[in-house]
Amino acid sequence: MANHKLWGGRFEAALESWVEEFGASISFDYQLAPYDLKGSLAHVQMLGAQGIIEPEEAAAIRAGLEKLLERYQAGAIAFDVTNEDIHMNMEALLTEEIGPVAGKLHTARSRNDQVATDMHLYLKDQLGQIGEKLLHLREVLLALAEEHVETIMPGYTHLQHAQPISFAHHLLAYYQMFSRDSERYAFNLKHTDLSPLGAAALAGTTFPIDREQTASLMGFSGLYHNSLDAVSDRDFILEFLSNSSMLMMHLSRLCEELINWCSYEYGFVSLSDTFSTGSSIMPQKKNPDMAELIRGKTGRVYGHLFSLLTVMKSLPLAYNKDLQEDKEGMFDTVETIQKSLDIMAGMLSSMTVHKDKMLQSTEKDFSNATELADYLAKKGLPFREAHEIVGRLVLECSRSGSYLQDLPFARYQEVSPLIEEDIYQVLQSQTAVRKRNSLGGTGFEQIRQELARAKKDLNSQ
Ligand code: ARG
Repeated sequence: MANHKLWGGRFEAALESWVEEFGASISFDYQLAPYDLKGSLAHVQMLGAQGIIEPEEAAAIRAGLEKLLERYQAGAIAFDVTNEDIHMNMEALLTEEIGPVAGKLHTARSRNDQVATDMHLYLKDQLGQIGEKLLHLREVLLALAEEHVETIMPGYTHLQHAQPISFAHHLLAYYQMFSRDSERYAFNLKHTDLSPLGAAALAGTTFPIDREQTASLMGFSGLYHNSLDAVSDRDFILEFLSNSSMLMMHLSRLCEELINWCSYEYGFVSLSDTFSTGSSIMPQKKNPDMAELIRGKTGRVYGHLFSLLTVMKSLPLAYNKDLQEDKEGMFDTVETIQKSLDIMAGMLSSMTVHKDKMLQSTEKDFSNATELADYLAKKGLPFREAHEIVGRLVLECSRSGSYLQDLPFARYQEVSPLIEEDIYQVLQSQTAVRKRNSLGGTGFEQIRQELARAKKDLNSQ
């Protein structure tokens, strides 16, 4: 019969091609090909070892699968939409290679545990690569922080100058976020590193399979203990999408800062030409497009998380075709975060930091007001009174277009006899940063300790 389906036995009429296309997933799940083959190789070895199929049959199927793997790697496989998905395409191709014995491969297996297995293998592999890229980004941040321990910049709250801080401290805040991302992916790996194979369609099988053997042949650390859960669980993908949303949020925050910092108004950094683009009309423009794109792509990753959460909501046990919708968002997220991590590492390691501009912008502002209040408080004045006095001085200076460090000493003596000549030293940004040496603060000594701790932590990973 023309276009006979692998599941066609009980059907009298064929699907119309536009309906068939709606149901097919091969246009995107072809990416699972090497994982599908890996799963099949483990399955056939187990079928042979358990005597479920004859040793010669197992050997023939194995040889056929290996041939398909070679053909796939050489780009010599054409997939066919009439075979619906990667699993049925592979079975059809295997039949072409070795004849009807190929049909024995599907003994004690269903596409339901097969697709779940493929997804676990795929994501496990990708988590490894993402882990490496994240580690590299953290190394880049540490190296940059190391260069800039004593580079002073304004620290902000409400995007207003608040207190001067070390640029390294600012960078290390992002290092912390990315370290947490690494930990989240490591936890995600635990739930991904499990074999669903052997759950069959939903209820297990009457054949004497060995699930532990297939799990270990595929390199999984464990297996699912409930067959219904095994075929219908997509939590590991949801965790991945959720972790990736958080990662993109962190990347996007850093991008937003880079975009601000390289604007004319800030002028704190220049991104290298390699990561910038020009304008088709304004010859002077150098735009931080790549940072903007990462910020923008954050939206699509959040979208994929929401999309799969919605697919899973109210889904009864066990397999439902809705689950086929788990793939495109996951593939796209994998690609988006891998590229975004590479771009971010490249942008950071190639940018120029304008230390002088950063420092200057802490010198013509009131970000040293807390220094003066703390100074008075340390000499015994209640902090609230000190705050009030300094507030009035700030008002006075801003009316006359000057800053606290510009006030003559005589004026300080009028304000409070507690203020001595050393106040001008205290008001300097360098001093303000150096002295904030409380645990986890921006003081240089703290940062050096934090750098050493972070390095040790990175080297142990
Ligand atoms: N292409 C399907 C998916 O991605 C494979 C599993 C199909 N199983 C089924 N019973 N129709 O979910």
